[in-house]
Amino acid sequence: MKDRTKFTHLGRPKPGLGTSVNHSITRASTLLFEKSEDLYRTDVRGYGRHGSVIHDAVEEAFCELEGGSGTSLTPSGLSACTLAILACVKSGDHILVTDSIYGPTRYFCDEFLKKMNVQAERYDPRCRTGIKELIRDNTSAILMESPGSLTFEIQDLPAIRSMAKEISIIVDNTWSAGITYQPLALGADISIHAATKYIGGHSDIMFGAVVSRTSSMAKQVAKTRKLLGLATSPDDAYQILRGFRTLHTRFREQEKTAFNLAKWLSEQDFIDRVLHPALEEHSDHKIWKRDFTGGGCLFSVVTKPASHEAVNSFLNGLKFFGLGFSYGGFESVVIHCDPQLNRTLGTKISGPLIRFGCGLENIEDLKNDIKQSAKQAF
Ligand SMILES: Cc1ncc(COP(=O)(O)O)c(C=O)c1O
Repeated sequence: MKDRTKFTHLGRPKPGLGTSVNHSITRASTLLFEKSEDLYRTDVRGYGRHGSVIHDAVEEAFCELEGGSGTSLTPSGLSACTLAILACVKSGDHILVTDSIYGPTRYFCDEFLKKMNVQAERYDPRCRTGIKELIRDNTSAILMESPGSLTFEIQDLPAIRSMAKEISIIVDNTWSAGITYQPLALGADISIHAATKYIGGHSDIMFGAVVSRTSSMAKQVAKTRKLLGLATSPDDAYQILRGFRTLHTRFREQEKTAFNLAKWLSEQDFIDRVLHPALEEHSDHKIWKRDFTGGGCLFSVVTKPASHEAVNSFLNGLKFFGLGFSYGGFESVVIHCDPQLNRTLGTKISGPLIRFGCGLENIEDLKNDIKQSAKQAF
């Protein structure tokens, strides 16, 4: 069965006489039992924090998406990242974190893990087998994001796995929606989604998922989620399941728009370079072609030297790109990235960096919008 068919049908109620197409939302904190003897049973759901039928269906959808053995759901993408890390570390450990990781995940590593006596060391996302030099006896996890946030470096996961056989590899796989990249199949232990982006798809929901390759890792993550008390509402889970139904169709449109827009931008006068791994001139294009089956809706451009005022004027002049963080929704968005660029290794960015997230608008409208705003700004 093809994915598009799978996600149309999975996790639905069994047809009966007049059954609805979707499960109904069950809102609950307390769950009632008939007999006192059942209150402490571990084989049945005992409390609202432990989920609902819809949560089960969402977990199943993420396992199908990633080829995983188990999923833990979280109230945001960032909490999915922190949960995965906390499930893999203990006091005294050392972890390796890509220099291109999503900023708030980096702050968690630098501030929170430090308090736990876990040392987080950054590595160059393009180090490939060079990761070996950084691995210590107490290295317990490698935290990857491919392509990297803002700067779009592709990492060589198989090479990193070959150098780190016993270490938990965690990949933030938000960019590909799990559709064009399958890190678990390439040797990662955990794949993370900020489902806030494509899977929610409408910029109105915060949600995350941690998908594990093995059932033992899935249990470790689920236990940590329980200990931390992380829970998601059935209403949010319902919206995420609804998002899965149309995910593939939306994603393919947005992916196509992003690739075509990136190609077109690379020919525009005000652009120095476009950072999209599907473009042949991208430094990691070969690894991308080997490991990915497609792109995503998000990419960056480095403009020719320009003042802050010119960049602000360009962004303010856009009519169809919302000025805002996140991506994967139906509307296109844009940000300038320099204030949050925090790279210490490898990647050097020479000029103003602007990130585009493509929505579902007509591409000619998006091009015309960029053309008119660039003309007055640069
Ligand atoms: C790659 C990546 N991971 C994690 C997150 C965090 O997700 P959320 O905003 O749902 O906390 C984001 C948000 O922008 C992201 O881009």
